[in-house]
Amino acid sequence: FYEQPEDASVSLKVVSPNVQYTDTHIFANFVYNNATVIKKGRTLEVFPTETKYQFKTELNVPKVGLMIVGWGGNNGSTLTASIVANRGNITWRTKEGIKSPNYFGSVVQASTLKLGVDAKGKDVYIPFSQILPMVHPNDFVLGGWDISSLNLAQSMERAKVLDYNLQCQVAPELEKMTPLPSIYYPDFIAANQSDRADNLISGNNKKEHLEQIRKDIREFKAVNQLDKVIVVWSANTERYSEIIPGVNDTADNLLKSVNQSHPEIAPSTIFALACILEKTPFINGSPQNTFVPGCIQLAERERVYIAGDDFKSGQTKVKSVLVDFLVNAGIKPVGITSYNHLGNNDGKNLSAPQQFRSKEISKSNVVDDMVSANQILYQPGEHPDHGDSKRALDEYVSEIFMGGKNTISLYNTCEDSLLAAPLILDLAIIAELMTRIQYRVGENEEFAPFNAILSILSFMLKAPLVPTGTPVVNALSKQRMAMENFFRACVGLAPQNEMLLEHKTA
Ligand code: NAI
Repeated sequence: FYEQPEDASVSLKVVSPNVQYTDTHIFANFVYNNATVIKKGRTLEVFPTETKYQFKTELNVPKVGLMIVGWGGNNGSTLTASIVANRGNITWRTKEGIKSPNYFGSVVQASTLKLGVDAKGKDVYIPFSQILPMVHPNDFVLGGWDISSLNLAQSMERAKVLDYNLQCQVAPELEKMTPLPSIYYPDFIAANQSDRADNLISGNNKKEHLEQIRKDIREFKAVNQLDKVIVVWSANTERYSEIIPGVNDTADNLLKSVNQSHPEIAPSTIFALACILEKTPFINGSPQNTFVPGCIQLAERERVYIAGDDFKSGQTKVKSVLVDFLVNAGIKPVGITSYNHLGNNDGKNLSAPQQFRSKEISKSNVVDDMVSANQILYQPGEHPDHGDSKRALDEYVSEIFMGGKNTISLYNTCEDSLLAAPLILDLAIIAELMTRIQYRVGENEEFAPFNAILSILSFMLKAPLVPTGTPVVNALSKQRMAMENFFRACVGLAPQNEMLLEHKTA
């Protein structure tokens, strides 16, 4: 049906006493070096620490289903059409010539990482996807829900993202795909979405809705003979849910509130709960607080992976690079002024104040970690000012040497869904991989899964959810390093460092 990518033939074997391969697993010993810092008077005493971990990774790549909530939206339909095009290697004609499908914008599929050097001292890189066995996007079995009944060919047309000539070629396949009916509580998304809500699970009973979504996941798995399912919320941004003691503050209260159809339980939270109860990883690609405290507690209790919030695509991704660069260069950003012209149906939904508020919150904290890490430039609590005024571009105003000012203006144009769709793939592929990795600290301990909140996915997320009490990292290069070094550790390789000592000591 489709050709395997050429690089699928590359296989990696780390030859080291710290790494052991069996038919089914790879075991790697890893020494994690960190340091504890204690302030004694005017001295910072630093104590290097060493923790010995063992990682165990299952090598067999399972058959995986990817179910998208909001499947018929711009992201969902663009992703589906693009996978169909990649599977069939369908090329299309534009006024600029023939275009071929690809997975540009996916870290896993389209970026590389350095393994080491060859005999001549030249760097050797492999595709990110080769560091450990991962699902190939072409192999995902796609499905999902939408409150709009259009089939995927119709929703692709409605989205107006992909070229017409490509749409014509994938339409016959996409016509066969229709989203499952979904949950619609009008109070949670903008009123202007009601005209597309014609594909709904009936009734107002939230317990029944939860059971229906659970059944949908089970059936999808059975019908397609899947080993695993990953669910990604790419439906409209909802308003924030109020956190109410006794209602959604603990796992038990939340489940009780679902049974009582409490009005403050959002559709996205019902989906998250259904996934957790079905032991299915759930990722929230929108900014709202789907993961109310009770939902997080349930994920931790059931040891099911969750991640969120809000896909980090265009403007925010740049922000998390640029502020990191400025602050690390010793330059002090004092103001960031942004104007974001939202497109299509996402923009329409976000034109309602309550839904926009969710977006505002998820965008507002993006530079906090970078700023607070540099106390030479910023006093505790001091921030660059986001201001009230709006511009047609992003302006970063920084204070430079001797009271000077530096202004960087950026103008960013693209089809947003073409940035978001590859992120959905990365989120799903890495979440699946994480379900096959376990760790232990002592030799005699049982291997265990990681914390239920998958902060390793932060690179793809605007407002990363992290385990309670642990630091949020927004800086893009740190987020990528965390992913890369973690997977390197799983195959017994030391963290990447850019010291290049072999070239400096000759
Ligand atoms: P869209 O509006 O085209 O698609 C959303 C889809 O969700 C629609 O088809 C709608 O009918 C459906 N929907 C609404 N409520 C639903 C429910 N309860 N159950 C099932 N389906 C439901 O929006 P788009 O552009 O695809 O974006 C999706 C989400 O991703 C939005 O919340 C957006 O804020 C978020 N996002 C998108 C980014 C991008 O670059 N496109 C970046 C960051 C976040």
